[in-house]
Amino acid sequence: MADEVFIPHNIIVTGGCGFIGSNFVHYVVNNHPDVHVTVLDALTYAGNIENIAGLPADRVEFVHGNICDAELLDKIVPGHDAIVHYAAESHNDNSIADPEPFLKTNVEGTFRLLEAVRKYGIRYHHVSTDEVYGDLALDDPAKFTESTPYHPSSPYSSTKAASDMLVRAWTRTYGLKTTISNCSNNYGPYQHVEKFIPRQITNILEGERPKLYGRGENVRDWIHTEDHSSGVWTILTKGRIGETYLIGANGEKNNIDVLRMILKMMGQPEDAFDWVKDRPGHDRRYAIDSTKLRTELGWTPTHTDFESGLKATIDWYTDNRQWWEPAKAATEAKYRQQGQ
Ligand code: NAD
Ligand code: DAU
Repeated sequence: MADEVFIPHNIIVTGGCGFIGSNFVHYVVNNHPDVHVTVLDALTYAGNIENIAGLPADRVEFVHGNICDAELLDKIVPGHDAIVHYAAESHNDNSIADPEPFLKTNVEGTFRLLEAVRKYGIRYHHVSTDEVYGDLALDDPAKFTESTPYHPSSPYSSTKAASDMLVRAWTRTYGLKTTISNCSNNYGPYQHVEKFIPRQITNILEGERPKLYGRGENVRDWIHTEDHSSGVWTILTKGRIGETYLIGANGEKNNIDVLRMILKMMGQPEDAFDWVKDRPGHDRRYAIDSTKLRTELGWTPTHTDFESGLKATIDWYTDNRQWWEPAKAATEAKYRQQGQ
């Protein structure tokens, strides 16, 4: 059973100009009219102020700053009743090429936020990933649960695992009021063109061939980003203090199947892509068992038809070239350098 319901009024969303954080800000504005949101975002290469443009100024305030900046946190945290922490370096391939920013933002940044939460006594929800559990074999019927041991594979996932551990230690030692969620692969609008689905869609839109790593057999458990947002809101407001909840929507698919769906929907032959070098240490399969969140807190995803969600995502990238074009050339140059 859930503890008492927590009713937030004034929350900080870190990373609210990124893909999933901005979706959460839209979700709160659209569904919870009594809540004010302060977005704290450093606007790294992955952050885009356009993602929250047009939201009402009396509901959303933007603060341009870094989560590692303790003085800034002292200025903005008082007066808020919760932090929902999305800000991160989020891309595995970048973490392999240059791990240091991942240590800084994902580990030190989480530490700074926890210290601010300790000082000002407010709630904290930590947004994490299923990658902390490592991977499953392709033929293993098992799924990750909240009790699966941590076994991260990449610099990215090891820093996310470290940040989860900090949250647990600060909760037990200092009695902080925290919750953690670990979600599977998100898709939807506003995702950076470095990620699998947007990269392939925008390659096709630019007349370039999509790029598939390794043998294309790796499985990801896709969830629409709006379902991630509703899951985080449910945990923030109804979750038990100190608990972890997995968020997933039974969306397992291997990469080659997803790519073929994209090619077909965009009128391309199903073999019109390039096989490229595999990612070092590439996790084979992720799969989430979200029974705890569904049965204890009554959450249920609504975007359960992957094909129609993918079609809508293709339409969004087709209609919003001005949003992704500025980032495309530099992203592909980086991939070319890595042989991907
Ligand atoms: P993203 O890379 O699209 O966005 C990250 C945002 O954080 C950007 O707006 C960036 O400017 C901001 N940021 C980065 N470093 C910062 C710092 N030091 N201070 C302040 N802001 C900073 O990431 P995303 O894909 O939206 O992921 C958001 C969160 O969700 C991450 O914590 C990630 O680990 C987690 N997550 C992602 C997925 C996924 O499929 N993408 C799945 C599960 C969990
Ligand atoms: O599982 C949750 C995680 O999902 C999040 O924690 C991460 O922040 C998020 O980036 C995502 O990680 P992945 O590494 O699974 O996502 P990515 O989009 O980079 O890749 C998805 C799969 O597609 C993976 O098996 C690698 C493969 N891939 C990726 C790219 C960019 C390709 O085959 N070709 C590509 O061009």
